Amino acid sequence: NNRPTALIMIFGATGDLARRKLYPSLYRLFTKGKLDRFAVVGVARRSLTNEEFQDNVKESIGSHDHLDESKMDEFASKFYYHSHDVTDSESYSVLKGLAAELDSHYRLDGNRIFYLAMAPEFFGTIAEHLKKDGLTDVEGFKRLVIEKPFGHDLESAKVLNRQIRKAFPENEIYRIDHYLGKEMVQNIEVIRFANSIFEPLWNNRFISNIQITSSEVLGVEERGRYYETSGALRDMVQNHMLQMVALLAMEPPIRLTTEEIRSEKVRVFRALRTVEGSDVNSYFVRGQYGKGKINESDVPAYREQEMVDEASNTETFVAGKLMIDNFRWAGVPFYIRTGKRMEVKSTKIVVEFKEMPMDLYNRQEGSVSPNLLVIHIQPEEGITLHLNAKKGQHSGSTPVKLSYANKGIDGLNTPEAYEKLLYDCLRGDATNFTHWDEVALSWSFVDNISEVWENEKEASFPNYESGSMGPDAAEQLLEKDGFFWWPVT
Ligand code: BG6
Repeated sequence: NNRPTALIMIFGATGDLARRKLYPSLYRLFTKGKLDRFAVVGVARRSLTNEEFQDNVKESIGSHDHLDESKMDEFASKFYYHSHDVTDSESYSVLKGLAAELDSHYRLDGNRIFYLAMAPEFFGTIAEHLKKDGLTDVEGFKRLVIEKPFGHDLESAKVLNRQIRKAFPENEIYRIDHYLGKEMVQNIEVIRFANSIFEPLWNNRFISNIQITSSEVLGVEERGRYYETSGALRDMVQNHMLQMVALLAMEPPIRLTTEEIRSEKVRVFRALRTVEGSDVNSYFVRGQYGKGKINESDVPAYREQEMVDEASNTETFVAGKLMIDNFRWAGVPFYIRTGKRMEVKSTKIVVEFKEMPMDLYNRQEGSVSPNLLVIHIQPEEGITLHLNAKKGQHSGSTPVKLSYANKGIDGLNTPEAYEKLLYDCLRGDATNFTHWDEVALSWSFVDNISEVWENEKEASFPNYESGSMGPDAAEQLLEKDGFFWWPVT
């Protein structure tokens, strides 16, 4: 069904995520005619009237340019507010009453989406109450959408998973990783499996290494409290970075179903070489930003930010080398790096191909460069293939680029990640959400690294300047293998 009907309950309705991403995304779906009958219940602690809530929703949409505002009143009229106490059954039964009313008023066929977009410590409690207090007793479908972080490590993720599994079976759980909603992340699969010129080369015979960079210019902003308990490893590597690795490395699925794709991704995680103990610091580099300049203005060091310990050992940058020990990838390093307060906001994947067996064109003179396939994920979206060709009078060779820029149909950006993911969830397509097995395996990979880092204070912190591409050690990580980071700027 391409025009789904549902009651959407958003827990954390006054929060940042709801305002910045969820309302604008729902509005886009609405104006594009992709929603049939629907209503939204915003759930949060503070008390608000429906009108106040609707005004907040409109305001959050209005702050996005290029959104057609003419349907805003009609859209907002479908929003209702419930002031909630997450631990109180009474409060759930009021909510249940409201849901039932809306269900019959809007004829929502008993379909329900529960979207948890608030402090993660309540995820489990809410899921349990939803079942216990009868909100999940509906005729239609019910789905639980759950934001990150999914736990803090494998142990806590298991506890959380057990709690939510008491109320929802795995196939009703939609764990968000918003990178999986990005247009060009979704394109990895298509580039690989729809092009006969790439797939035969996609292995250790022809690829020398793969580099994935996701750099940010922003610092931790007001999220110091959360970030101090997380760091870049948990915040970015456990989820987004490892998901991109899985998509790049997986075997072609038998068919494009949720189960087949997820099971191929899981197999990548299973083949990921464990890095632990004394190996951690030769495979991984951590960094923390010091002060520096961003767009010519001075910015403070991480340790000077709000809610951050002045001797903090938290990493704001991670670079690592991952090895996938299977037939396809044996010997091919996958390098990842991600950090805050770096020189550019950029997410890119560079696939570097091996060199020709013999160099006829004097590589030393810089005339021949390895073939690269660059997948631009953000801010620009596209693909660039770096080739060598002859130009002009010279008999030699020069690097040239073939580029494809992906511009949305209406010339604007392609749909936002959240818009796609919400729509997928409404239609019951869980492919671009993470299965528990993926979450568990990626936590166990990451836990080995955090264990070492938490027990060894990094004396060199801060070890990179704000506005740079990270600590020198991240360059050395590749240099010792005879590679370097291809520029992403
Ligand atoms: C989030 C992290 O998951 O991803 C943030 O918690 C980070 O710290 C963000 O800034 C990056 O997302 P994007 O889409 O801007 O690359």
